[in-house]
Amino acid sequence: MAEILPESEALPRALDLLGAGAVVAIPTETVYGLSADATNGEAVARIYEAKGRPRFNPLIAHVADIAMAERLAHFSPLARKLAEAFWPGPLTLVLPHRGGSGIHPLVTAGLDTIALRCPRGFAPRAIAALDRPLAAPSANSSGRITATTAAAVAADLGDRIPLIVDGGATSVGLESTILKVEDEKLTLLRPGGVAAEDIERAAGMSVARGATGIQAPGMMVSHYAPRAAMRLNAGAVNPGEALLAFGPRRAEGAERAAAMLNLSEGGDLREAAANLFSHLLALDRVGAALIAAEPVPPEGLGEAINDRLARAAAPRGS
Ligand code: TXA
Ligand code: MG
Repeated sequence: MAEILPESEALPRALDLLGAGAVVAIPTETVYGLSADATNGEAVARIYEAKGRPRFNPLIAHVADIAMAERLAHFSPLARKLAEAFWPGPLTLVLPHRGGSGIHPLVTAGLDTIALRCPRGFAPRAIAALDRPLAAPSANSSGRITATTAAAVAADLGDRIPLIVDGGATSVGLESTILKVEDEKLTLLRPGGVAAEDIERAAGMSVARGATGIQAPGMMVSHYAPRAAMRLNAGAVNPGEALLAFGPRRAEGAERAAAMLNLSEGGDLREAAANLFSHLLALDRVGAALIAAEPVPPEGLGEAINDRLARAAAPRGS
């Protein structure tokens, strides 16, 4: 079983393991990441192995600061403006990959672009001390719910990795927003912890939607799958269903629910995002065959929440 160390004590042990090519689960402000030295092909392969993730799926390279990012990718003035506005934070920029960056090709899965993110908390400290970028997908096995606590990582992956750094529950609760930056064009590849409206305000231009699926191959339909089936925009609850509630008003028949958890009593989308995966996991554990989810408004972080709910509800591939 993985050793679990509080983040205040974990740095030396994490650096030993990462330097030796091992995979370490680390907290970020969004979700826990399954990290490895992005310049070491064997280390990166261990991430795919631990996740059971298809090989064609590229990973985010995490950096300590903008200077490290600029050694890995070409930054246009627009890209720099966004990095300065949102880093460290839950925004991933997909940029043209710089040749000779040292990033192992397994990280980019053969694309000529690279996804870069400067996270908050323990991760940038570890990256700066290691002086190498860390590749890190979310710390869950492929297709399972994303982990936002060390305990959730341990339950899912504890027998496959040597160390989990415990930074408590993550503050954002869902993954970073992925934005592709081309010369004068911004495309949202995955809604996430930074609302698209906030990006548009900082960039002074609009963000194109809809390229998801092809350009972010990790966006497989059934990606955030609880064991239970899910029903979205539920206006009523059937007997035996578990209820994922949102806001102060209850769906009809809520008192019949096998279990109920509210993403945010007050209807706060940031609180709802932070609760999303832990509530899904908890409702799944009740063992109901179906989780009914009340509607969540589509604006701001609601866009990312609805995206994750739609994936959780999608028909399971295999
Ligand atoms: O918040 C997050 O972003 C978390 C934490 C750990 O940082 N990481 C995360 O990584 O969610 P992952 O691997 O689960 O999702 C990365 C997404 C995938 O959908 C992948 O396809 C996409 O990024 N991606 C990576 N490189 C890309 C590229 N060059 N072009 C387009 N999409 C890319
Ligand atoms: Mg993931």
